[in-house]
Amino acid sequence: MANIELSKVNEMDIDAYANIIHEEMGYTHEEARLYLNEKNFSNMLKIKVDDKPVGFINYTQEDNIFYINDFDVEVKQRRKGYGCQLLKYFELEVKNQGGVKVWLHVNVNNETAIKFYQKYDYKIMNRIDNYYAENFHAFIIEKSL
Ligand SMILES: CC(C)(COP(=O)(O)OP(=O)(O)OC[C@H]1O[C@@H](n2cnc3c(N)ncnc32)[C@H](O)[C@@H]1OP(=O)(O)O)[C@@H](O)C(=O)NCCC(=O)NCCS
Repeated sequence: MANIELSKVNEMDIDAYANIIHEEMGYTHEEARLYLNEKNFSNMLKIKVDDKPVGFINYTQEDNIFYINDFDVEVKQRRKGYGCQLLKYFELEVKNQGGVKVWLHVNVNNETAIKFYQKYDYKIMNRIDNYYAENFHAFIIEKSL
């Protein structure tokens, strides 16, 4: 049985997170590290499996509204329930901080993420054409807690 740990991200995790971003977004490892170094670590949560970080969430907060910037699970570790555990941990953290709503943008072609969020009661609220770049459209997805 795998040992699961959910906690805040710290500097020791940045290499693991950069690897996942490199894998997912096509950044070089160094570009991913630079991207992460601009982020506020106190707004990042991770899931570790047998002591290895396999998924991360990075969010921002405005009053009691929380926005998900990135949510990634390592490709090899997908569909094992880790994303679900991390999302629930994040939602608990949001509630503990008095948050009432979570929202995010998702690419309209990202069926996996759309199905994932819909399973946990996130709703598509709007569509923004050309949000990412020309011909790359986004849905706005949200959930009231
Ligand atoms: C979206 C993502 C975080 C899901 O993480 P995960 O650990 O694979 O998700 P889980 O295993 O917890 O899946 C929970 C449920 O979501 C749904 N789901 C997840 N992946 C799915 C897929 N490929 N197809 C259909 N449904 C899917 C299923 O209902 C699943 O439950 P089930 O396995 O019992 O059927 C992961 O696929 C990922 O990192 N994707 C790339 C980055 C991304 O798109 N992030 C989201 C935009 S911010």
